[in-house]
Amino acid sequence: MSITENKVVARVENASKSYKSGDGEITALYETNFEMRSGELVLIIGPSGSGKTTLLSLLGCVIYPSTGKVVVEDDNTTGMNEVQLAKVRLNSIGFVFQNFNLVAPMSALENVMFPLNLQKIPAGEAKRRAMQALEGVGLSDRANFKPRQLSGGQQQRVAIARALVTNPALLLCDEPTASLDSISLVTVMKELKKLSQQGKAVAVVTHDPRLKEYADRTIYVENGRVTNQLSTDLH
Ligand SMILES: Nc1ncnc2c1ncn2[C@@H]1O[C@H](COP(=O)(O)OP(=O)(O)O)[C@@H](O)[C@H]1O
Ligand SMILES: [Mg+2]
Repeated sequence: MSITENKVVARVENASKSYKSGDGEITALYETNFEMRSGELVLIIGPSGSGKTTLLSLLGCVIYPSTGKVVVEDDNTTGMNEVQLAKVRLNSIGFVFQNFNLVAPMSALENVMFPLNLQKIPAGEAKRRAMQALEGVGLSDRANFKPRQLSGGQQQRVAIARALVTNPALLLCDEPTASLDSISLVTVMKELKKLSQQGKAVAVVTHDPRLKEYADRTIYVENGRVTNQLSTDLH
């Protein structure tokens, strides 16, 4: 199936984000229209401070837009309260971060089970599904290891399994390879690519142009503005 036939999983419509700073206001992201479709891996590239995390946080319903709206699957999040937003995040979105954000005292398996516990899935089923997710990232033999007993690349694959275990339509990754060596980078990107090919919408924020080879589509963020082409490429 081509990308155009794939359904829109999340979109921001005329969404912007400003923060109060002293007397004035900082615009982290100017009015943006952007959508993610199932089956695509979209790379979001831009320098530090350009607004990449802000865009990802809007899509992820972690922050609320100053203007415009955010729609995830069939949920228009406008006017939703914290509890409702948390539910959208839990059911529709998986998050992967630069520093893995695994819970240190918990095993890989317990980390992956965690979102299912929040969904009140019975323990037996949660364990079975978490094992399956670990198997999917090639780490079933590390299920009982603590994060500190795993390499960076392995920790990130556990984090990917945790992001996926609830079967979300959308996977949002904020600089997922920034803390990894080049071999782990390839493993993690191949994992994310495979997930997009299985039908997930995968967004990957990076400042690393090497990741372009994995992308179906690349967008650029510069000074709070999203474009399809880097301005320096135009000259
Ligand atoms: N909570 C906040 N309060 C004030 N300013 C913020 C906040 N979050 C981000 N910003 C500002 O918005 C801009 C974009 O930030 P961010 O989206 O984190 O950029 P990036 O992820 O591309 O490095 C930066 O200038 C940053 O300082
Ligand atoms: Mg960032």
